[in-house]
Parts: sequence; C-alpha cells; structure tokens
Amino acid sequence: MGVYPIVLSQTKFTHQDNLDYPFEERGLQFGDGIYEVIRIYDGNYYLFTEHVDRFFRSADAIRLELPFEKEQLKTLLHDLLKQNNMKNDGIVYMQATRGSAPRDHVFPVGVEANVYAYVKDLPRNLSNLENGISVITKEDIRWKKCYIKSLNLLPNVLAKQEAKENNCYEALLHEDGLVTECSSSNAYLVKDGKIYTHPATSRILHGCVRMAVERFANELGIPFIEEAFTLADIQSADEMFLSSSTSEVLPILNVDRKPVNNGIPGEITRKLQDAYQKDANISNRKTAQQ
Ligand SMILES: Cc1ncc(COP(=O)(O)O)c(C=O)c1O
Repeated sequence: MGVYPIVLSQTKFTHQDNLDYPFEERGLQFGDGIYEVIRIYDGNYYLFTEHVDRFFRSADAIRLELPFEKEQLKTLLHDLLKQNNMKNDGIVYMQATRGSAPRDHVFPVGVEANVYAYVKDLPRNLSNLENGISVITKEDIRWKKCYIKSLNLLPNVLAKQEAKENNCYEALLHEDGLVTECSSSNAYLVKDGKIYTHPATSRILHGCVRMAVERFANELGIPFIEEAFTLADIQSADEMFLSSSTSEVLPILNVDRKPVNNGIPGEITRKLQDAYQKDANISNRKTAQQ
C-alpha cells in the first residue's frame, strides 16, 4: 500500500507502517501504566524500599505484570546509578506500561510490559525550602483510585499549570471543601501543635515522604492526625506545609493569596525539615542553604 504522509511541523498524518515512533504503545495511547520518582542524595537512593514497594502495589492495582521480582528491580536500579557514576543529588524516573500492541482497550495477550528508567541530576530547591511557597486551591477532579501512581495525570497537569499562571508553586486540591492533597505532593495543616492530613485512602497518593513525615512526627512527639482538614480550617491554621520526593518538606505561606501564619514558616515545619535532612543524611551540609 502506498504511504502518503502529511507532515505539518511536528504533526504527522501517515500510514502506521511509516511511523518512526512506536505509537501503538499502551502508555502513550491509554495512559495504561504506572511510574515512580525516587529521590537521590549524593548518589544514594532515599526511601528506596518504600518507592519499590509502591511501584509493585501500583502494578498490582492495575493488573500489570512486571517482568521482574522486587529484588531484581532493586539490583537494576542500583546498577543504573553505578553505570552512570551518579554521585549528585537527583532522581530516577521509572515507568511501566502494558506494552506495545495494536490499539484495543482490552489487555493484549502475551505482550510484555515496557519498562524504562532514567537518572538525572536534580539539585535541592534551597530557596523554596528556606522561603516557602504559595498555593492556589482547586477542585479535585481526579478519579477514585488516586493511591495508584498511574500515568493519567491530566487533572494534575492542568491544576499545576493554573498554579503556575497564578505565580504559585502548587494547587491544593479539595473535594467539596475537604482538602485531599496537592497536584504532585501531600498537604498538611498544623493547629494547636498537631499535624492534620487526609487519611491514606484511595483519594490520595500514599506519599513516601508522607510516611517519613509520620515517622518524624512520632519521633518528635507531635500528634499526626489522619483527618482531612477543610478550606475553612485554613483561615485559622498555625502552619501549613507539603511534602514530596522532589520538593521535600516545604512551608506553604499563602493560600489563594491569603497568608498562613503571617507568611512565616512555622516551628513544626522547620522541625520536620531538620528531621528530613537527618534521615536523608544531608544534615552534614553546612546549612539548609548549601
Ligand atoms: C499526587 C501526588 N501526591 C503526593 C506525592 C508525593 O509522593 P512522594 O512523597 O512519594 O514523592 C506525589 C509525588 O509525585 C504526587 O504526584
């Protein structure tokens, strides 16, 4: 059959045999896959087991068969750092999809998952850690299985873009006024010396740093209460912060342009940032600024 490609800049209309990119890939066509982002400090993984465990939990949840066992994946991930002589702060991005097969909603039979991972440098954002960030609030329009780290991130992408266009770092998501989390991080409110955050249900991603924050709070004797707070609660919050592997623990200083704690990072947030640095073995750096 003749092939008549129409090429307009990056737009290509052609016969599928003429595609130079494997478009019939289920991650690309259906978002049929999962991913992880693992933090690296000085060439070492942080919260490694937690991320690998969650990768397998996400795969199970979408009935995706991974072509390796957990221990094999851990070896592959360690090899990735060695082969790249990774010594810096960075991340590994890892993704698994249900493979390459002719487009059809039903699962392909006898097709292996496509898995890839890459490492890259990512310095800590010291200015955000020190000075805090601002957020907007947005309705949470995501699906009901947010505990799966799925590739379907369109609501998250749209929310984060709107945050950026409002000179904010994040979008704080809520369902009828109950705060779930942010578009790519978990969210917390501090009131009367207690930390409040949405329970680890299917409405939020069970963050690896969130697990660590709970551990730090327990060690510091700060009550960690898994109870959703509301948009109305924010008006009388003592502190707010967010957490994620790329952001660490960041003070939230403004919500929809209204200051929290007079726009000053709170005491408990600072304690958790210190605990994070100790846990990640980066507290030997002279200050949070280095
Ligand atoms: C929606 C969402 N919530 C929370 C997090 C934080 O998860 P973690 O602490 O495992 O990085 C992320 C991370 O990317 C996320 O995408």
